[in-house]
Amino acid sequence: MSKQLWSELARRQAQRKGAPTNAERWSAVDAYIEQQLIGEDPVLEAALADSAAAGLPPIALTPAQAKLLHLIARIHRAERILELGTLGGYSTIWLARALPDHGRLITCELSANYAAVAAANVNRAGVAGLIDIRIGPAIDTLRALRTESAQPSDLIFIDADKESTAAYFEHALELSRPGSVIVVDNVVRDGHIIDAEDQEPRVQGMRRFHELLAADRRGAQRVRATTVQTVGAKGYDGFTLALVER
Ligand code: DHB
Ligand code: MG
Repeated sequence: MSKQLWSELARRQAQRKGAPTNAERWSAVDAYIEQQLIGEDPVLEAALADSAAAGLPPIALTPAQAKLLHLIARIHRAERILELGTLGGYSTIWLARALPDHGRLITCELSANYAAVAAANVNRAGVAGLIDIRIGPAIDTLRALRTESAQPSDLIFIDADKESTAAYFEHALELSRPGSVIVVDNVVRDGHIIDAEDQEPRVQGMRRFHELLAADRRGAQRVRATTVQTVGAKGYDGFTLALVER
C-alpha cells in the first residue's frame, strides 16, 4: 500500500476511531490498485460524476473490476459483446475500448433515464459508434435478438436485476457459440448466497442461478463455470465466469 493510503488508515487509528474496518481496508487497497495500475481517466471519471449527478445508484463496477472485464474481452479477442444492465455506461465504455474498429456492443437498459445518461457518457468517450443501447426489459431485448437470429456474442456480461439472472443466463446461452464467455456480476451478495433461508429476492436470484449451473454440470454440461469471491470498494461479492462448451 502507498505511504499516503497507509497513513490514512494509521491516522484513523490514532484518532481512536478504532482499527480500520475490513470495508475501509478493502477500499484503501482498491484506491492503491487504481493509483498503481489504472491511473486517471477523465472520461471515465466524468461518466461516474454525471451518473451520480443524475441520481443513478452508485453500483457501477470498480475500476479494478471493470479493467478485469476489459482484459477478459481483449484476451478473448471479443468482437461482439452483449451487456445486460447499462446503468450509466461505465462498464460499457471499458468493454467498448476492448473492441476492434469493426466490433459491436449491444447493451440493454430498462430505464430510459439511465440510458440517456449512458448515451451521453459513451458519446464523450468516443465509442458511441460501436454501441447499440437497447431500452426496455432485458428479457424482451434478449427474445428480440433471438428472433432476429443475431450473430452469436463472443462475450456476454450479465449485470442487470439480480432476480432474473438465471433467465438471462439461459437466453445468453442461446445467443452464444461454443467458446463464448459469460461473466455474471454480484453472485455472492455478502456471502448470503449460502443461506437457503435468506428471502431477499436478489439473493434468491443468485441461488437459482447457481442451481441452474449445478444442474447443467450434472446434466447437459453446456458450460464450464466457476464463481470467484471478491472484496473491494463495493464490499464483499463475487462474479461467475462461464465458458460455453456447446
Ligand atoms: C446492486 C447491483 C449491482 O449490479 C451491483 O454491482 C451492486 C449492487 C444492487 O442492486 O444492489
Ligand atoms: Mg453489478
